[in-house]
Amino acid sequence: RSIAFIGSECHPFVKTGGLGDVMYALPRELARLNCDVRVILPRYACIPQEYQDKMVYRGEFYMDLGKTGREYYVGIMEYINDGVVYDFIDNQEFFSIGKPYTNLVDDIPKYCFFSKAALAALNFMDWIPDIIHCHDWQAGLVPVYLRTLFQNSPVGRAKSVITIHNLRFQGVYNIPTIQYWSGLPKEVFEMGALKQNWVDANMLKGGLAYADRITTVSGTYAWEIQTSEYGEGLENHLRYHSGKLRGIVNGIDYGMWNPETDPALAANYGLGNVLDHKMENKLALQKELGLEEDTGKFVIGLISRLTNQKGLDLVNAIMTQVLDGNTQVVVLGTGDKEYEDAFRYYEHTYKGTFSACIQYDESRAHRIYAGADVLLVPSRFEPCGLTQLNAMHYGTIPIVRETGGLKDTVEPYNEFTGDGNGFTFDRYDAGLLLDAINRAKTLYFNNRYHWDEVVQRDMAKDVSWEQSARQYKNLYLELTPW
Ligand code: ADP
Ligand code: GLC
Repeated sequence: RSIAFIGSECHPFVKTGGLGDVMYALPRELARLNCDVRVILPRYACIPQEYQDKMVYRGEFYMDLGKTGREYYVGIMEYINDGVVYDFIDNQEFFSIGKPYTNLVDDIPKYCFFSKAALAALNFMDWIPDIIHCHDWQAGLVPVYLRTLFQNSPVGRAKSVITIHNLRFQGVYNIPTIQYWSGLPKEVFEMGALKQNWVDANMLKGGLAYADRITTVSGTYAWEIQTSEYGEGLENHLRYHSGKLRGIVNGIDYGMWNPETDPALAANYGLGNVLDHKMENKLALQKELGLEEDTGKFVIGLISRLTNQKGLDLVNAIMTQVLDGNTQVVVLGTGDKEYEDAFRYYEHTYKGTFSACIQYDESRAHRIYAGADVLLVPSRFEPCGLTQLNAMHYGTIPIVRETGGLKDTVEPYNEFTGDGNGFTFDRYDAGLLLDAINRAKTLYFNNRYHWDEVVQRDMAKDVSWEQSARQYKNLYLELTPW
């Protein structure tokens, strides 16, 4: 099968969160399953020079856009790596800002342009895939364009799949603006498709209506988004389309995340020697961050975008109770100022015990996954979550709230049977988070034998893409059985 992935970020070119990881790992895994995969991305100016240099000019054309009355340049720059072809859509006007997302005033026109240009580029390259697989609201108009302006062009015969990575972001703006930039016909601005209310249009909502299949990144989230608690206002729309909705849990790329070969670590390790070498990584991490160097301390890691989604107000509420003299906390993340400042405050007040790394740093993230004892993911909602998977794969026990993909990937530790691979709590409540952390501490300090068993079970768990990539392939086959 041939598949075109269309999305707004992809490791190692540009990544702001888990979407970038998925856009990297899933196409590679599909290529291993003999799929022919192309990934179409914007050529943002912020893509590192190293990759800009590797891109080869593939062609260019001009395209009209909406009611602008203008022709826009579309360049195609290509880079091939490990069986996956990456085609970057080039246009200085839209993609020259230093980061992928800014604000909706810029982002709405940018992703109208990108979605249309991606389809036009497939026609231009004369590469017509069986499946067009688009991701999140930034590519939400792709299925809509496909069934309208592009229906009678070559690419019109492709089927489309849209994946929801995060329902919080939908690309909502007033109807005239989206009409102006998209140039889509009037009928798509009806209630069943893009129209959100009398004033606004919703790009994701339109994509969900027009796509042949909708997926999201875990089974539990697929169910949750049909409720008013998690549906972000689209619960009825999603319930209406539930017949074509599936949940497929994410994995992690074992090449990118491998403690045996990871060049960022102080000491590499595998399942056989994790118990010895994890200590070395803990010491190195404490040294790197200016924490008291003591392997006896219980080290809690948190690696996250610092936003309301991630349960940081719970963390904030219990921090003074967590720091009991035997515990250290390491935070790595950037985002909302209120959280950044709160963590800076703790670092200042608890020197040597609390480390706040307010930055985005890939290799430091790897060292925290390796050096911490547990990783906190107390999210308010979590479509899938990748950090708990990374943690488990590095022998670091996750403490998570039972929501979305966290619920599907972390089985609660059972003190009677000794089964399970993490510590969990259900309601969004700081007391319950504290309780879960304390249960973890009790096991760590009082029953190291069982603790080590959980560590080893986590490392042995299959969190790769293999199973899930097969499920995607089956979904593609379901749409194109010929
Ligand atoms: P989300 O997509 O909601 O941000 P995920 O758990 O799916 O959450 O993915 C987050 C990804 O981003 C993981 O690969 C994680 O390691 C990485 N990440 C998050 N914050 C940072 C940071 N400050 N530095 C380095 N990597 C980070
Ligand atoms: C989103 C979600 C996260 C998920 C990621 C990749 O950013 O917040 O839970 O893991 O997408 O699918």
